[in-house]
Amino acid sequence: MSYNILDLVRPNIKKMQPYSSARDEFKEGSESFIFLDANESPVDNGINRYPDPQQKKLKEVISKRKGIDSNQLLLGNGSDEVLDLIFRAFCEPNIDNVITLPPTYGMYAVLANLNAVENREVLLDSNFEPNVDSILKTIDDRTKIVFLCSPNNPTGNTFSSERIEKILSSFGGLVVIDEAYIDFSEKKSWLSELELYPNLIICQTLSKAYGMAGLRIGSLFASADIISILNKIKPPYNINVLSQEKAFEELLNINKLKNTIISIKEEKERLIKVLLEVNFVKKVYPSDTNYLLVEVDNALKRYDQLLKNGIVVRNRSSQPLCSNCLRISIGTSEENDKLIQIIKQL
Ligand SMILES: Cc1ncc(COP(=O)(O)O)c(C=O)c1O
Repeated sequence: MSYNILDLVRPNIKKMQPYSSARDEFKEGSESFIFLDANESPVDNGINRYPDPQQKKLKEVISKRKGIDSNQLLLGNGSDEVLDLIFRAFCEPNIDNVITLPPTYGMYAVLANLNAVENREVLLDSNFEPNVDSILKTIDDRTKIVFLCSPNNPTGNTFSSERIEKILSSFGGLVVIDEAYIDFSEKKSWLSELELYPNLIICQTLSKAYGMAGLRIGSLFASADIISILNKIKPPYNINVLSQEKAFEELLNINKLKNTIISIKEEKERLIKVLLEVNFVKKVYPSDTNYLLVEVDNALKRYDQLLKNGIVVRNRSSQPLCSNCLRISIGTSEENDKLIQIIKQL
């Protein structure tokens, strides 16, 4: 499908002049400069200067690790921020619409609402796969984005590549694939397909497998054209100095990351085995993530029982196709021991 990405951008965004921050004009790093341009405190305490608005150092490690050009990467204050930026750049309030596929990550609907954009919900099918025919029928000329969460939260499955491919190649708007949990999945990321699909946006995060939820750093990968539009509207200093530094440091420790993923996967297998033997557990859904969707006899009752024993899980029963389902994150082996001990007592 051939089209110009700029046709999808809101007219006001296309026309607007971005805010030009002091640090954009003169980059720090040159020892010979005295910076009197940003009304900062001159007293050096490590955090008295504004952060690099383009997060160059951090982007360099992430883009290298992911094998893409750093001009195809935008970083946000969590992927929640980059998701919001996509709405703001492309969806005209009260005119455009987006498509989401429940049961899925709740923020897409929240952000649609926040941005006054109609959210057209097309339920996943009974195998938790996108219903491509219904999606294509639901699209109209004001549909700007289809959100695909793969691996999907809360169902835990990675969507079929053929179905994603069909949506990507049949839809003239943007397809956002949220890969927050991709590092736990054996399936391939869609990053390698970026060159093939100019309408593809991929979101990932340092909050899950990378273990940095507290830093709030999300990545958005897309064509350089899309990135430059989003760069125009992002808050100038959206990733603080401490987060940039700490993430950089952590990312250098690739072995720690690999070991964490391995141990979470092992713990997940151990938990699955135990859960399958519990009489009130009806089903444990396959999971490409660090959580399990578990169907029980009575979700509210089991949720309360766990809570009384000091364990907080997520009751997902209100989500379509998830009646009596609890979502349980994989904890440390000590936490899982405790969970197992309590579940066995119930
Ligand atoms: C599918 C999905 N996308 C995005 C996020 C948010 O990630 P971040 O912490 O980067 O905002 C979550 C968090 O639970 C998630 O499940």
